[in-house]
Amino acid sequence: MRIDGTPWRTIWPQPDGTVGILDQTVLPHRVVSLRLAGLLDAARAIADMQVRGAPLIGVTAAYGLALALRTGADDASLDHAIATLAATRPTAVNLRWALGRMRDQLLPLALSVRADAAWALAGAMAEEDVAVCSAIGDHGLALIEEIAHKKGRVNILTHCNAGWLATVDWGTATAPIYKAHDKGLDLHVLVDETRPRNQGAALTAFELGQHGVPHAVIVDNAGGHYMQRGEVDLVMVGTDRTTRQGDVCNKIGTYLKALAAHDNGVPFYVAAPSSSIDFALRDGLAEIPIEERHAQEVTHLTGATSEGTLATIRVTPAGSGARNPAFDVTPARLVSGLITERGLVGANEAALLSAFPDRL
Ligand code: MRU
Repeated sequence: MRIDGTPWRTIWPQPDGTVGILDQTVLPHRVVSLRLAGLLDAARAIADMQVRGAPLIGVTAAYGLALALRTGADDASLDHAIATLAATRPTAVNLRWALGRMRDQLLPLALSVRADAAWALAGAMAEEDVAVCSAIGDHGLALIEEIAHKKGRVNILTHCNAGWLATVDWGTATAPIYKAHDKGLDLHVLVDETRPRNQGAALTAFELGQHGVPHAVIVDNAGGHYMQRGEVDLVMVGTDRTTRQGDVCNKIGTYLKALAAHDNGVPFYVAAPSSSIDFALRDGLAEIPIEERHAQEVTHLTGATSEGTLATIRVTPAGSGARNPAFDVTPARLVSGLITERGLVGANEAALLSAFPDRL
């Protein structure tokens, strides 16, 4: 996708053997790229959310492992690097999926070729992510077109950032939006601000604006109101982990949007690359670990002053504590369908297993 007309990806290999990333902690106020030179740089970038979003976390971990193997490629070093990267964020299964794939392919190789193979594999995973997101875009586009044929303008609501910034390119939930916009369909997107870190207000709004997609940022609690008034035709969100029975774990607040959509007969679709489907789990509520992040993300807000300086301010009384679960689980019964790279799949075990028999 583009920033001020220039094509960007969220992560890229650099000629000096390091990895470039776009620092998402300062967007939309600054466009800054950073250099990852080793394992700890990659682990820190994921933990501090300079890179975030389930697919991008997976690809960053793959590159982090490749960087780590340059300083030691024996089995113990491989397992140490995998453990370090896997510990950065617990909920998005893409992290473990990417590291597991790397491990399976690297372990049988001679030590002397592992680092180069890991670098090539990380690059291939990045390209695969782009292709998967593009395919999700094509399948989701059909859904948008169906509504457009019936009623003209399509009003979409999205939560958090499941856009190109959360992947290598295209995004998952935003890929159909970009493809529909490029095709000339009349679209409008309501963007949940997504407290506490404001991925919607800061990142999704930035992306949509750069691509020229008409949109408005709304506070997290406004979605139900707009659904009651018939101002939402379709909800489209991403996922950090979807179980084999179709329970969807995504950014905190997604569940409330699904409830409101259900109450108002609004279709609720989840863009789910197969890298985010955890075929080992069934019951999302009981089994998915929910990341608890620092209270300061709730008690404080970061933004730019009118002079353009980045500033963090407190919004709660100094003595008040805060709780900060980063994700919630939407039960499968509230999900209209999963938009995967293999097409639209029902949020249930039979449909998922028939679409992905190779993942058993
Ligand atoms: O905490 P984040 O910003 O990493 O959470 C991101 C989300 O919840 C996204 O919706 C999800 O990762 C899907 S991204 C295509």
